[in-house]
Amino acid sequence: MAVSAVPASISEEYYQISQAILESFPKYRLPLDLFIFKENIAQLVLYSKKDSRLTNEQVEEIRLLCAEGDLFVSRADHPIYSQHIVKQLDLVLVDKNLKEAEVADISLRALELRLNDFFDQPVRPVFELLHADVLVVTEYLWTDMHRLRLFVRRLHTGEYSLARHSLNCLSLGLWLLVSPKDEEMRRKSFDQAALALLLHDAGMAKVPPFITGKTAPLKPEEKEKIPQHTLAGYKIMHKLDQTDESMRQALLEHHERLDGSGYPQGVKSVSPFGRLVAVVDAFSAMIQKRAYAEAKDFTTAARELAEAKSRFDFAFSGKILAALASDSFGKSS
Ligand SMILES: [Fe+2]
Ligand SMILES: [Fe+2]
Repeated sequence: MAVSAVPASISEEYYQISQAILESFPKYRLPLDLFIFKENIAQLVLYSKKDSRLTNEQVEEIRLLCAEGDLFVSRADHPIYSQHIVKQLDLVLVDKNLKEAEVADISLRALELRLNDFFDQPVRPVFELLHADVLVVTEYLWTDMHRLRLFVRRLHTGEYSLARHSLNCLSLGLWLLVSPKDEEMRRKSFDQAALALLLHDAGMAKVPPFITGKTAPLKPEEKEKIPQHTLAGYKIMHKLDQTDESMRQALLEHHERLDGSGYPQGVKSVSPFGRLVAVVDAFSAMIQKRAYAEAKDFTTAARELAEAKSRFDFAFSGKILAALASDSFGKSS
């Protein structure tokens, strides 16, 4: 099939729409403007306005134009486009026309929606939808680990939410895990690590929001509820048959500290993965605004963790600090 040569200036402002994505939209009424490439004038012209009713002939013509690579949507319609694709994340992988930064935005948004659903209802059918999207994202990252940097640049720093905190831990945790790329790492362990990072706080779904969102000091009986989220999370994931080592370590060890001052067990010996989750968990908690604490900037947070060597593994906190010093990631880049 002959695919038209589209000038680079056009692909800056328009997406070439793939067949899989076209098919995922309502057939007769598309929620965005369509443009077609006219090779003789080397320009895009408007084909149909958003929400206009298409005839059968137009539907067929659009299908052919798409197959030829001549069908486009405007990047100005990115919000509509990404809102659509966020529910069908697997389409992102087959779409060569999205920029990597756009894929990162869409992936994080998609996972946030799935996580919120799962934290509301930590049951198997909801977990399976989340799991499927996690595998789409790990497949995408595994293909080119440099893409992780775009995820790390998107750490959430605003108001705390459990889903956004979990996403921060996913991005930063995977980045620590594969930086420099661990050639020995197997694909399966990468997927499992991703899931474990994302769900290390699954048990928080069981802690009432009036406790997690409280600005006043917690009463003793309320305080008691927080450490229980480690075991509660373990039980939730166990019910869902998610019992591999990395999941267990993430759930049960992310609040353990190297000097034994952590919980739930107060042990000093913590697995390497448990130490990693502890560092990213604490870092993410510090850079988000909490009911009881203001958000800290990245460097302050990383420095505090690096200084607390007796409790947090410096192998990880030091790496974050060094990356910030060389501006390898962060808000400024
Ligand atoms: Fe936690
Ligand atoms: Fe956490």
